[in-house]
Amino acid sequence: MELEIYKHYSLDITHIDNEHFELLSLCSRIDIAIKIGDIANAILLFEKESALFLEHHESEKTLMTVTGFPYIETHLQEHLLLIKKIKTLKDSVLRANGIKSYTSTLVELYRYHIDNYDRQYGEWYHTWKKNRIIE
Ligand SMILES: [Fe+2]
Ligand SMILES: [Fe+2]
Repeated sequence: MELEIYKHYSLDITHIDNEHFELLSLCSRIDIAIKIGDIANAILLFEKESALFLEHHESEKTLMTVTGFPYIETHLQEHLLLIKKIKTLKDSVLRANGIKSYTSTLVELYRYHIDNYDRQYGEWYHTWKKNRIIE
């Protein structure tokens, strides 16, 4: 992944960042597979993506619980919405008109979540960490 993109999406939480970058690169591969019409490969990659995202959901849930993140419920709800949106996207690909209707890409959906929701958590995490060190 390009350094600029890495810097932009990094929350400076190693474990979470690693999962994000793995998911983002997987999503880019899915987007490319769909664009070139390699639907069989796209479906295989979608399977990987959903397994990886469930793991990631658990990682964030655990970390948010440990650090007492006040918006955990909203955040986890947002994960469920993201899963639904991805399923809609996957279903549209499976249908004959899929490729044409593939206007918002998977990688954009993830980037939006990281930029708007995970970043909010990242700020909370670093404040929490700083306060813990001071105590
Ligand atoms: Fe995330
Ligand atoms: Fe998240």
